[in-house]
Amino acid sequence: MLVNATEMLQKARDGHYAVGQFNINNLEWTKAVLLTAQEMNSPVILGVSEGAGKYMTGYKTVAAMVKAMVETLNITVPVALHLDHGSYEGAKACLEAGFSSIMFDGSHYPIDENVAKTTELVKLAHSMGVSVEAEVGSIGGEEDGVIGAGEVADPAECKRIADLGIDFLAAGIGNIHGKYPANWKGLDFDALDKIHQATGGIPLVLHGGTGIPADMIKKAISLGVSKINVNTECQLSFAAATREYIEAGKDQQGKGYDPRKLLLPGFEAIKATVKEKMELFGSVNKA
Ligand code: 13P
Repeated sequence: MLVNATEMLQKARDGHYAVGQFNINNLEWTKAVLLTAQEMNSPVILGVSEGAGKYMTGYKTVAAMVKAMVETLNITVPVALHLDHGSYEGAKACLEAGFSSIMFDGSHYPIDENVAKTTELVKLAHSMGVSVEAEVGSIGGEEDGVIGAGEVADPAECKRIADLGIDFLAAGIGNIHGKYPANWKGLDFDALDKIHQATGGIPLVLHGGTGIPADMIKKAISLGVSKINVNTECQLSFAAATREYIEAGKDQQGKGYDPRKLLLPGFEAIKATVKEKMELFGSVNKA
């Protein structure tokens, strides 16, 4: 059974650890993340971007696959199925499809419009028991073709959005999606501290988890971050393992071309990355 992400993130906040959101792209990804969460006895959030949702033929397919997999794999740790960076329409579609959590990313709207749309979606989602993440200050980098500059959110705007009854808040603190450039200045902990103070202890979300050094992750958790999103790092691990298999010519040996064999090293690589992140975030044995 899927659960919303509210309780698991409040527990994480109170216990000073973070729950990982791992973005899924297909069946192998989903299976790898779910099995690792069960092995680690860790709560987990499966993230689905609008692009990934489309790729998997729609939110209904994703919800049906995830629910069935949780059941058939006997996954007993808390699992939330969460829309990542949702549009207003996408958020509504996911509510209809049976997601247990949604993110409405209104960070590119003027603040009043972000407030109005977030308010409406909170009301709708909460009437269905679904948790809501909202965003202030766009996260930099590229995601589904949208490139943001890595803004630092204004604490007063964060408070305005947090007060709408959302369950957790993504606030830009100089983090970006994808690989960090060599001249990246690091997370803005001063801003994070101010946002944390201004928002009354609401669980905070750190996007762009790929490539953030361990000491910065730990410090962010100590300043109220309870959810950390990881996407690119699993893609890089998967690609490297698949490359190695092909470059070693293994797809040309015996039945090495069988997708169940060809995709296996990548699947194992995703599992290893997810395990490493769960250990770093402190969510192991917190199910
Ligand atoms: P990365 O791809 O940088 O890990 O970011 C993931 C993310 O924040 C998804 O919303």
